[in-house]
Amino acid sequence: MVGWAGGLVAAETGPARPKQDAKGNPIRYAATGHASNYDETKVGRYVLPDPLVLANGRPVRDAATWSNVRRPELIAVYEREIFGAVPAGAPSVRAEVVATEADALGGKAVRKQVVFHFGAGERAVALNVSLYVPAKAAKPAPVVLQLLFSNPPGIPQLAKMPFNDAVPVEDIVGRGYAYAAFRYSEAQGDHAKTSEGGVQALAYGPGQTRPAAGEWGTMAVWAWMASRVLDYLETEPTVDAKRVALVGHSRLGKTALWAGARDPRFALVFASCAGEMGASLARRDYGESVDDVAANFPWWLVATFPKYAGRWNELPGDSHTVIALNAPRPVFVTGGTEDQWADPHGEFLALVAAGPVYRLLGQKDVGATVLPALDVPLISGSLGFLYHTGKHVITAGDWRAFFEFTGRHFGVTGR
Ligand code: GCU
Repeated sequence: MVGWAGGLVAAETGPARPKQDAKGNPIRYAATGHASNYDETKVGRYVLPDPLVLANGRPVRDAATWSNVRRPELIAVYEREIFGAVPAGAPSVRAEVVATEADALGGKAVRKQVVFHFGAGERAVALNVSLYVPAKAAKPAPVVLQLLFSNPPGIPQLAKMPFNDAVPVEDIVGRGYAYAAFRYSEAQGDHAKTSEGGVQALAYGPGQTRPAAGEWGTMAVWAWMASRVLDYLETEPTVDAKRVALVGHSRLGKTALWAGARDPRFALVFASCAGEMGASLARRDYGESVDDVAANFPWWLVATFPKYAGRWNELPGDSHTVIALNAPRPVFVTGGTEDQWADPHGEFLALVAAGPVYRLLGQKDVGATVLPALDVPLISGSLGFLYHTGKHVITAGDWRAFFEFTGRHFGVTGR
């Protein structure tokens, strides 16, 4: 007889739960009981919130209502519920050019190292930015601003890097773009105790030890840093700060999408393999889930975010909303066949669902409703997509498609 106790014993001594499926996709078991799904037939039904309906239920019928009412309403709810708002006590910023190298990249670029000092005195935190400007640029150059996991080119690498970014800086400069980059975690770490220091701690009032309710999680801090770099680029005569493309991979792709949503000065966003809470639809049960992010990376978002574990349908929007908050500016999204954790199909569907906002603002959408063939970029409109064969990385093909897409929008011709 197998009674309750027998069942319990069987569960404790039974076979270990698999950590991967047959294709090597990671399986995580959330405290909510949810296990990662990779079966399209088990995704289930979901209904996405309509970005073109106001909180009061009225439809958004014109661009002015989107820009003046719906967009601010969504930014406010996303700040409160998901990413967190920049606190009133956000630290002061001072950018200092500490080195200029006239013949960087074998004479192809002028390199500046700019240190951003956040806050002042003993508690100040520094962020190193490398800026490469094409040596022969006759006019101010458009910029690729990349959030990196490792130190940017030109700055010695740390002994241990969580991830080494392959940065095609020579190619970027050769195409006529300036290149600026920083290591995302330099001034605000990416770990459970991060709020004890860094930029977040600089904003605390007396007695405060963590961001207050509704205040920035680390992704909003990293996005804020990107905006501060953009402030500096606006003062740099050799670059065109009106044509800055913000690039980020994975958690930095999520960050780039939010940075572009909040700061309309970013002219274009490239979110590579940005996945859950980035480009892929959270309501779609495929790959990483809200429950996983809430359990494993709670510091990325507002302190109350874990309340959405198991309650995905109550999220105030979905990834299509965050993409749409970038409209009418172009957004390019990529996914990889060997990166099902990030749900590339869900990323594509988010672009499709952002389409109505782009169309309302007079832009061309992604141009398809069915997942396109592998390795064929969809880049004829303002929403671009590429599903590459391969891993959780920015591939050479992704960069090529990115430059074709960006070149069209920025009026940059060339290779
Ligand atoms: C983890 C995390 C993802 C994230 C990724 C990365 O896999 O679960 O959400 O995108 O790290 O940043 O590489």
